[in-house]
Amino acid sequence: MEYDFTIVDLSWEDRNEAIELVNQFFKKVNSLELDGLFRIRPRAATKFVDIYLKLAGTDKVCFRGVKTSGGELTSLVIARVEEKPFLVENRTLYVDIAVTKNGHKKKGYMSALMKSVEDWAKENEIPTIELRAIRANQEAMDYWGRAGFEEFYVRFRKKLS
Ligand SMILES: CC(C)(COP(=O)(O)OP(=O)(O)OC[C@H]1O[C@@H](n2cnc3c(N)ncnc32)[C@H](O)[C@@H]1OP(=O)(O)O)[C@@H](O)C(=O)NCCC(=O)NCCS
Repeated sequence: MEYDFTIVDLSWEDRNEAIELVNQFFKKVNSLELDGLFRIRPRAATKFVDIYLKLAGTDKVCFRGVKTSGGELTSLVIARVEEKPFLVENRTLYVDIAVTKNGHKKKGYMSALMKSVEDWAKENEIPTIELRAIRANQEAMDYWGRAGFEEFYVRFRKKLS
């Protein structure tokens, strides 16, 4: 089967497009009806991407994206290795951000990208992948459930008055 996209490790030349995608996700989070306090700060996307780009290419971070044949970045995943010395598994790959550009969803981009991220984890002898989804983000809850992820932890939150 011929694909019209490639999966690539992202670097500084992808910075602007990566910021745009992370920003799209953060805007979505801020549009959700949450507890009135939980809000992502302005410019967070830029800071976030810059922090991760500094570590990109090391064995601590997997920062990958989907590019169309025209070179457009349509999906990205930013994941970091978490040390879990108290667990038998020792390390997990924690996905901080996974987003597909509006207008490019439901084309299989994220599924292909996550498969590649899973391969990266296996190559690095990391046996598990974890991520967090806001329950109010129905699109994410549905997607991860169907992508083979199980609800495992429940993180409770209480806003203090
Ligand atoms: C969740 C998200 C990352 C999924 O990305 P995506 O690129 O649309 O994912 P895929 O295209 O690989 O898969 C989505 C669905 O499209 C389906 N699909 C894949 N290729 C398709 C095609 N060619 N035609 C029609 N449907 C297709 C998949 O089977 C999947 O269906 P399912 O959810 O019923 O299993 C995306 O919706 C998104 O960016 N949401 C906003 C950000 C967000 O909330 N991220 C999660 C943070 S926790």
